[in-house]
Amino acid sequence: MILTKDQKEMYDGKFGEGASKALKILMGIGKAFGAKRMVEVSKAHISLSNQEGDLWFVEQLYKAGAHCRVAPTVNPAYDYEYFSKITDIDGHDKDVIVRTIDTYRKLGAILTFDCTPFFEQNVPRFGEICSFSASGGSVYVNSVIGARTNREAAQSAMCSAITGYTPEYGMLLDENRKGDILIDVKADIKTQFDYELLGYYTSIKMGPEYNMPVFSGIDKATASDEALMDIGTQLNIHGVVPMFQILGVTPEANTMKDAFVDGNPKHVIEITNEDMEKAYNQISRRTGKVDFAILGCPHLTINTVKEIANMVDGRKLVGELYLFTSSTTKDLADRMGLLKKIEDAGGHIIINSCVDQPIWGHLKGGSGVTESPKCAYYTTRRDLEFKVRSIPECIEAVLSGEIR
Ligand code: F3S
Repeated sequence: MILTKDQKEMYDGKFGEGASKALKILMGIGKAFGAKRMVEVSKAHISLSNQEGDLWFVEQLYKAGAHCRVAPTVNPAYDYEYFSKITDIDGHDKDVIVRTIDTYRKLGAILTFDCTPFFEQNVPRFGEICSFSASGGSVYVNSVIGARTNREAAQSAMCSAITGYTPEYGMLLDENRKGDILIDVKADIKTQFDYELLGYYTSIKMGPEYNMPVFSGIDKATASDEALMDIGTQLNIHGVVPMFQILGVTPEANTMKDAFVDGNPKHVIEITNEDMEKAYNQISRRTGKVDFAILGCPHLTINTVKEIANMVDGRKLVGELYLFTSSTTKDLADRMGLLKKIEDAGGHIIINSCVDQPIWGHLKGGSGVTESPKCAYYTTRRDLEFKVRSIPECIEAVLSGEIR
């Protein structure tokens, strides 16, 4: 691999053992993917997992004297002080999170604890080279903004933040940003939940041999920021779809010629209203009692918090309601009087936290509802069981205590 003067000096230890180690790890990744050189990154985001492996890795780098050249934002972990009040937090889990946060702070990370950094705090520009981990975040950055990132691990994104470099391969190269399959949407796609179902079902219907879907037939007027975030998150639940495009909506797909090599997809499939019904039945058909709702995977925007606040205004919840969002959005909600409406109804806005953390002991055995197939999928390992519905249906379910 060809290295610049700065990179050679970093490799040789001029900037400390930690930076040298981080660069060597990135070079190893680059070698595995055939990268010819390392390129500068100007933004980074790390999906810190709050797990032992991640902690071990960042502690090694810190002990070796590493510090971030490009300050990265970080994904949510969990607010252990808040959750200690409502559930049993294992002493080991608490130790891991306290040490993780402390190490990230000392390495120079920006402790946003938010999984939608592309809306606030860490917004890349078109064409900017970044290093984003987080399955939903990397897809949004590539697809909707048109910045360039590979789907990094927390560890490789941290190495990029420390060195300021990433190996040039994959989604950083023009030739890898073209679509391979055209998704001809015949279904009626109107709501945010329709986009979630579309993302969920497309990843199943297109099969594992394709991973760069380009959608046609979607009305630009329905493509809100939230809808585009949700379709990408659901497409990439399994981490295999680095980017999607929507003709006439996302910036690298104004025409078929932009979206595909020579304007030609390798394969075409249709998504019909029958497919959407199948998707709905697969993840939503169960009915019955509802004890709690967990919404905000990924974190809710202020627009969605506002919708929810207006739905519960002046009413009392029968089940428990947990809304996950960023601290910035919670501050806004407070200032706008939305937090009061939600808390008066008996709901909670939770910040700095991820649904997939060891915080749900008190809900085990109950019946939950969520708007996010990703939340339902990830939390099976936490022994939580969810029905998936649109946000208005979730809210009606916790207001009445049941779903039909
Ligand atoms: Fe965010 Fe955690 Fe879901 S990071 S997208 S709340 S799994």
